[in-house]
Amino acid sequence: MKSDREKWDRRYSDEISDSLSPDPLLLEFRELFSSGRALDLACGLGSASMFLAGIGYWVDAFDTSEVALRKLMNQLVRKNLSIGVAVVDLDYYPLQRNTYDVVTVFYFFSQRIVASIRAALKPKGILVYSTFNYLHLSDRPDFCRDYLVPPGGIGRFFPDLHVVADRESSEENPAISQFIGINLAI
Ligand SMILES: C[S@@+](CC[C@H](N)C(=O)[O-])C[C@H]1O[C@@H](n2cnc3c(N)ncnc32)[C@H](O)[C@@H]1O
Repeated sequence: MKSDREKWDRRYSDEISDSLSPDPLLLEFRELFSSGRALDLACGLGSASMFLAGIGYWVDAFDTSEVALRKLMNQLVRKNLSIGVAVVDLDYYPLQRNTYDVVTVFYFFSQRIVASIRAALKPKGILVYSTFNYLHLSDRPDFCRDYLVPPGGIGRFFPDLHVVADRESSEENPAISQFIGINLAI
């Protein structure tokens, strides 16, 4: 949606200080990752993309904010990393099926794209997902419910993935749900 894109472009133009360090979930499960193709959805400034590129993945990084992606590209030059970035509205963009060894999603949720995320995983592909759940409403009552994981956690949206971790609440923050699943289908 155009208004979403404008909102995020404004936010990223305001020099927000989002961390460029990889999410702790990626570090906790570092041993799962090897090499191949990775997709970082709603990548923002690209902390997960850069982590995955740094350990040897070919990474595609998608986000609706051109401003965020421009900042990410500046970082790539500085760090001598290569990532394929694209300005994409995930609500309407069909992901390539059966393509990725790893898909990461940090702090973005939309039930509309769950099936497309699942289909993008190759056999043995790993999904790493961490984002706000409905408990976030107690801090941010104005937050749009559609963007929050409902009660039950993330795993129930990916019922055929082998569960490595399915935490309705993370240890650090009850309002964050985390999921790691592997596509064991042949
Ligand atoms: C909270 S930020 C998270 C950024 C990054 N994943 C991180 O953890 O730092 C949410 C991101 O989702 C992106 N986003 C929001 N709606 C989107 C959509 N419909 N399609 C693609 N990206 C979207 C925003 O531009 C923003 O970068």
